[in-house]
Amino acid sequence: MADNSILNSSISVLHGPNLNLLGQREPGIYGVLTLAAINEQLMADGLDLGVRVTCFQSNHEGELVDQIQSGIGAVDGFVINAGAYTHTSVAIRDAIAAVQIPTVEVHLSNIYRREEFRHHSYLAPVVVGQISGFGAMSYRLGLRAIVAHLRD
Ligand code: DQA
Repeated sequence: MADNSILNSSISVLHGPNLNLLGQREPGIYGVLTLAAINEQLMADGLDLGVRVTCFQSNHEGELVDQIQSGIGAVDGFVINAGAYTHTSVAIRDAIAAVQIPTVEVHLSNIYRREEFRHHSYLAPVVVGQISGFGAMSYRLGLRAIVAHLRD
């Protein structure tokens, strides 16, 4: 049952580089679901939770920064899988910090069980929290987490 107080909330799901290839990209690590299937599920979950969900993917760091900035006044919360930019991008971190829109970081794989260069997230210090390692379920948990955070 949707909580009326957040019925008009808008959640933006951001996908970073190479996530457009989900379904065919290293399925043993990232699973067999396509990005379209994940987005469809998130939009259906949004209906159940009573929030509007929009999804955006880009392979380009600056486009992700633009998308975060365009959330000002338009978006109540972000769920972001910044892909490899998680481990490199001060620009995406600064954008999240600048807009002051609550953000949950998600990863399909458990980044702490993988190569050492994936263990550090530039985003972690500026997000509400992180969900890592549950495959496509990480996004669904991330959506629930941001809704619960906004409800609080
Ligand atoms: C990822 C983990 C990153 O290390 C990697 O570069 C990705 C996907 C994940 O969802 O598990 O592209 O963010």
